Amino acid sequence: MSARILTRAPRPSTNRDKKLKVLIRRAAIQKRVREVARQIANDFKGERVHLIGVLKGACIFLSDLVREIDLETSIDFIAVSSYGKGKESSGQVRLLKDLDSSIADLNVILVEDILDTGLTISYLLRVLEQRKPKVLRIAALLDKPSRRLKDVKGDYVGFTIPNEFVVGYGLDYGERFRNLKDVCVLSLPPE
Ligand code: IMP
Ligand code: MG
Repeated sequence: MSARILTRAPRPSTNRDKKLKVLIRRAAIQKRVREVARQIANDFKGERVHLIGVLKGACIFLSDLVREIDLETSIDFIAVSSYGKGKESSGQVRLLKDLDSSIADLNVILVEDILDTGLTISYLLRVLEQRKPKVLRIAALLDKPSRRLKDVKGDYVGFTIPNEFVVGYGLDYGERFRNLKDVCVLSLPPE
């Protein structure tokens, strides 16, 4: 099989897959990621920033973001589970994988794919604040403020979106669609 076939994501909005509709195109994402990175570089001029990606959804956003930040950086990952296989949160957050190293006295930016109810991020803020970082901020590619249950705000937000279930650019539905290059709305037939 050629590399071209291996790296090509399924094309949304073809006849084969009508349930995906592009919401944010790849070019718009790239442009916005660069802007967010510039904002971070300005806010932390001359300092090191430590990015913590929330697995797995944030892995693609983090890898693009960190390469655009013109500062000394380091990265780590944390994994939590709040969602089952479907679209609705179970409401309970569990730590699945902890950080590899201490964050004491570091400029930490928690990198999320999407802020939805806010339950995940508020749990993570509670856990990480106890470890005494110098600064703790939130970067999220997407924000769905209409669904918020906890009063949390992103410091660096890529796009504010309406109350739609989205996939692509790291976001999944039952582990599928993370490889889409655009962020797409996924609509499923009623069960
Ligand atoms: P929260 O705890 O409700 O804020 O949810 C945060 C997590 O839920 C995100 O990190 C995602 O993994 C997942 N999530 C929330 N909304 C969506 C969506 O529209 N598509 C895919 N995953 C989502
Ligand atoms: Mg997910």
